[in-house]
Amino acid sequence: MTSIKVNLGEREYAVHIGKGLLGDADKFFNLKRKVFILTDSGVPCEYAKAVAKLCESSVIYTVNEGEGSKSISALENVLKAMMSFEMSRKDALVCVGGGVVGDLGGFAASVYMRGIEFYNVPTTLLAAVDSSVGGKTAVNLGNTKNIVGAFYQPRGVIIDTDTLKTLPKRHISAGIAEAIKMSLTSDKALFEFFEKNDFSEDSYEKIITEAVKIKKAVVEKDEKESGLRKILNFGHTLGHGIEADGGLSELYHGECVALGMLPVCSDAVRERLIPILKKASLPTEYKKNIDSALTYIVHDKKATCDGIDTVIVNEIGNAEIRKIGFSDFSMLVKKIFS
Ligand SMILES: NC(=O)c1ccc[n+]([C@@H]2O[C@H](COP(=O)([O-])OP(=O)(O)OC[C@H]3O[C@@H](n4cnc5c(N)ncnc54)[C@H](O)[C@@H]3O)[C@@H](O)[C@H]2O)c1
Ligand SMILES: [Zn+2]
Repeated sequence: MTSIKVNLGEREYAVHIGKGLLGDADKFFNLKRKVFILTDSGVPCEYAKAVAKLCESSVIYTVNEGEGSKSISALENVLKAMMSFEMSRKDALVCVGGGVVGDLGGFAASVYMRGIEFYNVPTTLLAAVDSSVGGKTAVNLGNTKNIVGAFYQPRGVIIDTDTLKTLPKRHISAGIAEAIKMSLTSDKALFEFFEKNDFSEDSYEKIITEAVKIKKAVVEKDEKESGLRKILNFGHTLGHGIEADGGLSELYHGECVALGMLPVCSDAVRERLIPILKKASLPTEYKKNIDSALTYIVHDKKATCDGIDTVIVNEIGNAEIRKIGFSDFSMLVKKIFS
């Protein structure tokens, strides 16, 4: 087992990574209170039940699987269920699932009675490498991603790599996309690891550990994304546009990020990136007309009237943030996807 501490003063917490950790959740989380366990219908139910077994008083609440559950109406239902369970400010919520459950549950915890404690048990590779750490929580409004949310840190995170055994391959690939993103902006050695190795099950623990280390370092320096943390949005401006264009359901988030990285890196970086994306069975071509995806970018949180904060990688392991006008951004994109 590897434990990584996210040092954020009074909001610090540990991320535990290893095999079979789910059965020990009570060693890492304070479950001696009312515990609201949030999961979704696609997550094998034994994971939530394993946590419930360790609680004195718990309820398992299951939302529909998929991005559609990151909505105001799903949030309302979760909050109503928390209220029916008569949770007080001292009780806790545990998210057992992927990024959808983590983003929805984290946000529900942040607003219920002005904030109760929550824990993350990510069961997708994407949530393990990225969304379960760092405290970004949110729901979508219409097709606009993450526009209603809060920075709200979990009290602890357990990543049980055994849970990834049931995750479909395509979702494994989507998670790898976020890890590739982090290597490109921050860790040349990890990028080279991706170049040299296959994405086999044996490599998941290393990939998760390295990605969490990168994320922790960035979040510790800039918890609320006033500067450095923006680099984690690499590939996400166009990625969110593509995601919205598909009605938030056609391509997975990680697949959209894979495509979104291609126009915002140098030719030399792209030449090395494409073979890795292909090896991870991630898309490198966009089959639809890109103009439609571009129209959604105007609503992106990174876009202001004087341009889009764009993360660019010209050299592996280094990112820079540049403000680019919408038409220049469109040109970069169209050069790759025309
Ligand atoms: N908060 C952040 O910092 C952050 C970072 C990256 C992504 N995100 C968000 O994360 C979301 C995507 O997360 P995701 O890719 O985990 O998607 P997801 O939560 O929808 O999970 C993918 C699918 O896998 C199923 N599943 C989950 N665990 C499983 C398991 N162990 N075995 C079998 N099936 C399982 C789920 O039911 C779902 O159908 C997006 O909404 C994205 O915006 C947030
Ligand atoms: Zn992402």
